[in-house]
Amino acid sequence: MDGLITPHGGTLIDRILTGTQRQAELTRAESLPKLVLDNFSLSDLELIGTGAFSPNQGFMKQVDYESVLQHMRLDNGFVWTIPLVLPVTEDDADKLTIGQGAALVGTDNVIYGTIAISEIYRPDKMVEAEQVYRTTDLEHPGVAKMFSRPSIYVAGDVWVLNRKQPTEFSEYYLDPIETREVFRSKGWRTVVGFQTRNPVHRAHEYIQKCALETVDALFLNPLVGETKSDDIPADVRMRSYQVLLDNYYPEDRVKLAVFPAAMRYAGPREAVFHAMVRKNFGCTHFIVGRDHAGVGSYYGTYDAQQIFSNFTQEELGITLLFFEHSFYCKACGNMASPKTCPHGSEAHLTLSGTKVREKLRAGEMLPEEFTRPKVAEVLIEGLRSL
Ligand code: ADX
Repeated sequence: MDGLITPHGGTLIDRILTGTQRQAELTRAESLPKLVLDNFSLSDLELIGTGAFSPNQGFMKQVDYESVLQHMRLDNGFVWTIPLVLPVTEDDADKLTIGQGAALVGTDNVIYGTIAISEIYRPDKMVEAEQVYRTTDLEHPGVAKMFSRPSIYVAGDVWVLNRKQPTEFSEYYLDPIETREVFRSKGWRTVVGFQTRNPVHRAHEYIQKCALETVDALFLNPLVGETKSDDIPADVRMRSYQVLLDNYYPEDRVKLAVFPAAMRYAGPREAVFHAMVRKNFGCTHFIVGRDHAGVGSYYGTYDAQQIFSNFTQEELGITLLFFEHSFYCKACGNMASPKTCPHGSEAHLTLSGTKVREKLRAGEMLPEEFTRPKVAEVLIEGLRSL
């Protein structure tokens, strides 16, 4: 192949139609029943299409869905921890026929794709919540989102026919085939992926650069799909990443590109999902720090690391780099973690995510040992203009 890490399942899935095939499918789609997709499903559709979710070629059949819930694997055994499902209403389900197709349209009435319907089933969402999120608490944003969506799941392989065009930062929208080409052309043999839904604070920078000391390059891959309303908006974050990279990272060792997925807040299970997806983007390594993809206090600090012990290295394919809770230590005078610092917590500078957002929204700078001033300025400015 491209000399890079093998995609999950062996092949990079490509479910995007172009040229005459696309035209023909678009024409066929006009006569099919229409399903209107929310942004969450549209982003899943696109990520299936580009191969980011390889080996999945569509929305999951019940056997895969149940296997993911119970065993954290697809029915064929490949590691997969998050359901990829297309929820529809009872009324919409009534319009569909198994063995036939449906057009997948956005709220803007554009046909984004088609699905070949192989199954229609009713999930037990309580089980899904317990298995995926480890809680049925509706205060959990991922659980709330899941229950707020319709109650019937439609399964089947998809084709992508149109894609939403980014209004900003389009140069950072790269498909797995494109990031793989970037890594290959730069001669990077080992690339560490970094997932984030936050600005890059000093702790993030510390663990990224610790990792970068031992691999060829860093793939900074912020999630820019749907997040909960109090997370810092993606466009503001993007400007902060640009400033940070321009000033503090070596250009020839870092690639920034977005991950246009919805955030699930599923902690441990989402960490595994994030790792598999970054393998598809061409990463050989992936960082999991403290409470990866967590929210509130639903998950233990290192649950998202421990979950990986359920799989063999061969099954995962990608190498995990685990980091302990990092902070600035006033007594050490540098960034550290419990692994490298002998001092007590009174010497450590830590701020909760909520506190950070509060300060930034109030226009207050953060301590420079927590966030670089250039980054904080961009964040304050971005949040002010909202
Ligand atoms: S996430 O929801 O996307 O995981 P976040 O952007 O905060 O949230 O974290 C990105 C990555 O950095 C995750 O792997 C997380 O575990 C790690 N991380 C965040 N803060 C710290 C910290 N202070 N120490 C160690 N790891 C951290």
